[in-house]
Amino acid sequence: MKNRLAQLIQKDGKALFLPIDHGYFQGPTRKLEKPRETIKPLLPYADAIMLTRGVLRNCVDPANTKPVILRVSGGTSVVGEDLANEELTTSITEIVRLNASAVSMSVFIGSKYEHQSLINLTKLVDECEDYGVPVMAVTAVGRELEKREARYLALCCRIAAELGARVVKTYYCPEKFHKVVEGCPVPVVIAGGPKVDSELEVFEFVYDGIQKGAIGVNLGRNIWQSEYPIAMIRAIRAIIHENYTPKEAQDLFEQVKAGKA
Ligand code: R5P
Repeated sequence: MKNRLAQLIQKDGKALFLPIDHGYFQGPTRKLEKPRETIKPLLPYADAIMLTRGVLRNCVDPANTKPVILRVSGGTSVVGEDLANEELTTSITEIVRLNASAVSMSVFIGSKYEHQSLINLTKLVDECEDYGVPVMAVTAVGRELEKREARYLALCCRIAAELGARVVKTYYCPEKFHKVVEGCPVPVVIAGGPKVDSELEVFEFVYDGIQKGAIGVNLGRNIWQSEYPIAMIRAIRAIIHENYTPKEAQDLFEQVKAGKA
């Protein structure tokens, strides 16, 4: 367990996870139509990639040594009835066989399927703990993006940690984000959500989230849907691992974009 966690969380205690699992409920998401091409230039800058077994098998070179966070919940789609109605999709045998450094699954607290997703989390934790595989719980909000506020997120993170998650992924919120992190006894990483308008906006929320205790990000669309994904990931990496301010990250972004760094 400690060894796998050390693969994910770097020596400075920080982490940059790159999720490309969106197809498991959204289909061929914009700029992720060909995952192999999307991730190739970004992999050197990520501490781990998060994806499903299907994309791992078909779109990632087996010689890849970047740690893998395997998405193991699903069974719903954006055109289906309710995104919260997820089940576990991948057996522990498969998780171990694919050499995952961690697994991730969503919990939908406050939804009709709250109980189901939380019990699935406990089942996954029971199986994964036997093999030393950390579980990262994703505090999902489905289509209800307005749920991304501190009181709700703090509730979700705490419950996920209490039920055995070793890492929790949640959303950043501008108000009282420190309360979300302080109430959670395991490391918290921030998801990006839908692409926002400017790069600086991303740098500011990543920076603020880190200042308030998050250990890093699990951030996808705001990186690979950017016109300059390499510049984005390098700037975000600098905030996480080199304490860059949003302004310094923006400068680095511009330099990489101009081919000067
Ligand atoms: C949800 O769990 C998704 O599959 C993504 O892993 C997550 O939302 C992070 O990606 P993004 O930064 O694009 O929201």
